[in-house]
Amino acid sequence: MTKEEAKKRITELANIINKHNHRYYVLASPVISDYNFDMLLEELTILEEQYPEFVQPDSPTKRVGGDITKNFIQRQHKYQMLSLSNTYSEAELLDFDRRVKKVTGENVEYVCELKFDGVSISLTYINGLLNQALTRGDGVKGDDVTANIKTIKSIPLKIQGDYPDEFVIRGEIFMPKDGFAKLNEGRLEIGEEPFANPRNATAGTLKTQDSAEVAKRPLDCYLYYLFGEKLPFSNHYYSLMKAREWGFKVPQYIVKCRKMDEVFDFINEWDKERNNLPFEIDGVVIKVNSYNEQQELGATAKSPRWAIAYKFKAERVETILNSVSFQVGRTGAITPVANLKPVQLAGTTVKRASLHNADIIEALDVRIGDTVYVEKGGEIIPKIVSVNFNKRPSGLQKLDFINRCPECETLLVRKDGEANHYCPNEDGCPPQIKGRIEHFISRNAMNIDSLGEGKVEMLYDNGLVKDVADLYGLTFDKLIGLEKVIEATEDKKVKKLSFQEKTANNILTGIDASKQVEFDRVLFGLGIRYVGRTVAKKLVNHYHTIERLENASFEELILVDEIGERIAGSIIDFFSHEKNIKIIERLKDNGIQFELKNPLVVKSDKLANKTIVASGKLENFSRDEIKQVILENGGKPASSVSKKTDFLLAGENIGPNKLAKAKELGILIITEDEFVKMIN
Ligand code: IVH
Repeated sequence: MTKEEAKKRITELANIINKHNHRYYVLASPVISDYNFDMLLEELTILEEQYPEFVQPDSPTKRVGGDITKNFIQRQHKYQMLSLSNTYSEAELLDFDRRVKKVTGENVEYVCELKFDGVSISLTYINGLLNQALTRGDGVKGDDVTANIKTIKSIPLKIQGDYPDEFVIRGEIFMPKDGFAKLNEGRLEIGEEPFANPRNATAGTLKTQDSAEVAKRPLDCYLYYLFGEKLPFSNHYYSLMKAREWGFKVPQYIVKCRKMDEVFDFINEWDKERNNLPFEIDGVVIKVNSYNEQQELGATAKSPRWAIAYKFKAERVETILNSVSFQVGRTGAITPVANLKPVQLAGTTVKRASLHNADIIEALDVRIGDTVYVEKGGEIIPKIVSVNFNKRPSGLQKLDFINRCPECETLLVRKDGEANHYCPNEDGCPPQIKGRIEHFISRNAMNIDSLGEGKVEMLYDNGLVKDVADLYGLTFDKLIGLEKVIEATEDKKVKKLSFQEKTANNILTGIDASKQVEFDRVLFGLGIRYVGRTVAKKLVNHYHTIERLENASFEELILVDEIGERIAGSIIDFFSHEKNIKIIERLKDNGIQFELKNPLVVKSDKLANKTIVASGKLENFSRDEIKQVILENGGKPASSVSKKTDFLLAGENIGPNKLAKAKELGILIITEDEFVKMIN
């Protein structure tokens, strides 16, 4: 490489890395794997060492983390938030061990921990109370996210025991896998783009300005390092055990080792076992245990010399991008999907991968015919992480995003600030129409399980159902014999599927039964953007009838618990369209529920502010009834026993776990008789 080439590459790398940093830290939507990112950073670090004269003032090697969001107040870290040097190779771990032992001598003790894949946080406690929570920011200053952090249940607001007057504790905020899956399910339901992985969901949540919204997200936190002026301990391991005693959530997956073989055993075990953990890890952290030795080893400008992170390689393979298809969703959002040459990855055959949106295609610069790297890291859906440019044949065309809908040819639109392109032809674009009907009949809405995607398609293709109200005009005669060609083979044999008597009857019974479905599920089924199941319930509990909801103004709507401007705007928009009003009228004429059956009337405040868990079989109440009675008396029904529970109403055959938990937490346990006395 000539000097000129080195200079050019250094500038180029700095620009690329800065862009990725911005995507990762500010936008919380990275388009490159950690591994690729680290490789770019390493290339730049080496070049800068060789050619220090070309190092740029804003070089990404000169900072610890990323950008700081403008909206939060920035505050100085008392102890700089250094990063960890990391490696993917065992040889480099042995180098680390040698460097450490040069300073400490042979008898050093290491602590091995899991490397949690989330967002790091620094918490200050003064006199036992949580005082401040800062994100890393640039390592020197971070965002004050105290209000958001206080919503995370596993972070103690007040600690117990013999804690120092003032200290800082560092840890990782993360979202457990199951909570992440549920969150994404809910986002899809309301027509929102799902988060790519739990870490992005965590970062996105922490940047949310509305801490009430944060409180609804399933965040959790593990703490893994303590800072303080005169900590009364001599080593890291002991400090964590003490922190656990004070009430912090300290990971139990920690071991002390003296031999590197033990370190490697820990790494190999967790590389295999990590899929069985309820949260994501991306490696293992190895720390020198003794505080004295940590101090002797010191730190570079970016990271302590007494610790290193070993990162697992995500399983990844190379394959060819054969083509890209564009799918149209229920809300009209266009999703580009990569069709890949089938390849084996982590035990499954991968044929397709989402390309998300135009920005991602642009950032990856992926073209049809390219050899691409596909990874299945933490992500549930495999994704293209980068292109192997060395294998790019000449003459490949840049991949342009389509500008017309692949289904109905309408010109696509892209609103300001939205990542997605949309087809605006709501009423004429088949996948949007079918998508709305499929949503309406889905399990959490009208639950017409005798219909499904395929049958909806048949009904639509035969011109029988064009909107959800048409379902109620179906008759046996219209359904019977309805046909669909499912296979036209080369020898011109045509296979047909047709509705028989039984199918037709099942469909009609299912549709008829849906007339009993309660109003909140009907409202959810209408598919108003941003109105998921929970929001639909809130709206129904507040307005009781569709007429009152229809007539609510924007100003009234935003006063309802949990309804923000975005949801309110969407509701107003929905009811402003004559066609929606007409559909509702036709549904009403067919006997669909548009009124809350048993609106809650609070009759007393005998259980005011009491959180009550009822469990086991009760003599006088069904499950729904007991909830209703608790609410009617001003109480809050809950399903699981926690510190917040005021009492446990124990019915017959109550589960032993609930009882044990209540006893452990010192929660009052009452019988059904006692409960009845309380409310009468
Ligand atoms: S120790 C001075 N321990 O990984 C303390 N970090 O790439 C330095 N991380 O910035 C951090 N699990 O956000 C430490 N068990 C663990 C960790 C951990 C995850 C994160 C942390 C750090 C990053 C370094």
